[in-house]
Amino acid sequence: KPLSVPAICIDGPTASGKGTLAVEVAHALGYHYLDSGALYRVTGLAMRRAGLEPTPANEARISALARTLPLRFDAGKAMLAGEDVTDAIRSEAAGMDASRVSALPSVRAALTTLQVGFRQLPGLVADGRDMGTVIFPDAPLKVFLTASAAHRAERRYKQLISKGISTTLDSLRSDLEARDLRDSSRSVAPLKPAEDARRLDNSSLSIEQSVEQVLNWWQEVQPFR
Ligand code: DC
Repeated sequence: KPLSVPAICIDGPTASGKGTLAVEVAHALGYHYLDSGALYRVTGLAMRRAGLEPTPANEARISALARTLPLRFDAGKAMLAGEDVTDAIRSEAAGMDASRVSALPSVRAALTTLQVGFRQLPGLVADGRDMGTVIFPDAPLKVFLTASAAHRAERRYKQLISKGISTTLDSLRSDLEARDLRDSSRSVAPLKPAEDARRLDNSSLSIEQSVEQVLNWWQEVQPFR
């Protein structure tokens, strides 16, 4: 059996802390990092800039945009046709658009090759909704990260407030519950744990504790490293 490039998948709902955890684990191991949600967010932004709404009627046009996204990641920044869109794709509106375009099957298909291409030596840590179920089904470690809706809303609240974006806890919580529902009930690649995923509820864990848990699991599944 040929040796495959190491991959760790971290899937979970909105604002569960996947991004932070995945970045830290990638850093600790010296691996590459894929923020798959950013690809859907950038697709949503490209769609708005083309004057389109995220509706099934526009599926062909949106997936054409996704197939030819002039996107680059440069030192943690997302560059769309040379423009830094790192902040623009982080708004709640961009998150909602991402959730909508991600429910369109041909948009998901258009972004598959791009995602698979991130799996390069020495290894990859990928976060999203379907990393373990669809994109990297053979990954030796799959983590399904959860946290209560209350905890997730509170974290998102602090994040936005610290960036000077005003919002309320109630509106954040209802937004993330709406996104969870759409992301888990869509027919293609819904948010759900892979059968061989390990569950991690980080509601009462620090970031360091979560990182340590994942690194311990990685040692368990990679005994020869
Ligand atoms: O992880 P995030 O909040 O940046 O993701 C934004 C949206 O993109 C999310 O609501 C659903 C979609 N998404 C997806 O469908 N599949 C992924 N692997 C990652 C994100």
